Amino acid sequence: MTEATGSNDYQGKSVEVVENTEDTGGPIGLDVGTSNIVMAQNKGNRVSIVKQQNAFFAIPQSKFTRQILQQNEIVFFEHNKQYYIIGDSAENFANMFNANTRRPMEKGFLTLREDEGVAIIQAVIKTLVQRAKKLGEIICFSVPGEPLCDKQNSSSLGGHESVVIKMYLESLGYTPIAINEGLAVVMAELGDENFTGIGISMGGGMCNVCLSYMSVPVITYSIQKGGDDIDENVSREVGMSATKIKGIKEEGVDLSTLPKNNVELALQIYYTDLINLLVSSMEMVISSSDKIPKIAHALPIVISGGTASPKGFKEKFESTLQTIRLPFEISSVRVSKDPLDTTAKGALVMAVSEAK
Ligand SMILES: Nc1ncnc2c1ncn2[C@@H]1O[C@H](COP(=O)(O)OP(=O)(O)OP(=O)(O)O)[C@@H](O)[C@H]1O
Ligand SMILES: [Mg+2]
Repeated sequence: MTEATGSNDYQGKSVEVVENTEDTGGPIGLDVGTSNIVMAQNKGNRVSIVKQQNAFFAIPQSKFTRQILQQNEIVFFEHNKQYYIIGDSAENFANMFNANTRRPMEKGFLTLREDEGVAIIQAVIKTLVQRAKKLGEIICFSVPGEPLCDKQNSSSLGGHESVVIKMYLESLGYTPIAINEGLAVVMAELGDENFTGIGISMGGGMCNVCLSYMSVPVITYSIQKGGDDIDENVSREVGMSATKIKGIKEEGVDLSTLPKNNVELALQIYYTDLINLLVSSMEMVISSSDKIPKIAHALPIVISGGTASPKGFKEKFESTLQTIRLPFEISSVRVSKDPLDTTAKGALVMAVSEAK
């Protein structure tokens, strides 16, 4: 599906890229997440999804290694006498070294600490999105909601990444449109409910919430906690690398059964903490908002994002929801079918309608 296509220049540095060669044009939905970047595009009557981890891992430089990496179509940068492996391959390298992958983004935002962050995100996007076939083609990309926490304490660029991403997509010939991540969930999942309800994305770095009325975002916000925090907390408790814990968690944590070992126990404890934090934030933000539409009927909640994947997640979320009071009834809670792809699919729905 993918093939190596040589190198580009980024600020004088060579960027080896592997491009998605299936591109047949048309509007695109792009989810630029802390953990994964996901691209959705219509191919005939199906939606094509391509994704890549938003991560990197630096290894020492040598001519021999370079050749092996190229032969294996591994995407990498050359910088500071090191090779920066990017995307999915970074995790394999990190596990070999029993170390953690590094991320250009943290808690939903680009970090200042990783000085190559912008170049890495651009190179990851380049593996998924080709230059526009038609100049000005619409691409909708996800942006996080305003964080609840004090932004002055954050080390992030505080939203400037959306400007950086927008400029990069423009340079590829697209007309980029930003869409709130929670609204993208509503767009993907609540078509049958007139795009009215609460869309939640529980990702790696953050959770996004959007209360939408007929596709209009009435309340949007984010909390700067997600799957990464679960990994880091469990890693500290049990003394294994966070990348290893992430792997164990993704193999299938079951929140509905008693834990069988200390890793499972810690995973369950920190999962419960995250759900409690998210649900209590909903009570605080929605109940104190003066913008709540007076809706006679109950609203559905749909949850997406990789962190909503485990067995027993929905039931745990539902029971936590019973402990809070909201100014309206909840008609149903459901987890989207492909939680990792929902934001990109919702962004695609928006992109297609904008292109008409
Ligand atoms: N099967 C699974 N079980 C539990 N967690 C999972 C599973 N698959 C992925 N995850 C977790 O989901 C998170 C990534 O989800 P997602 O791709 O939705 O986040 P993101 O969009 O990249 O990040 P964000 O929205 O926070 O910026 C990671 O923490 C990952 O470990
Ligand atoms: Mg996300």
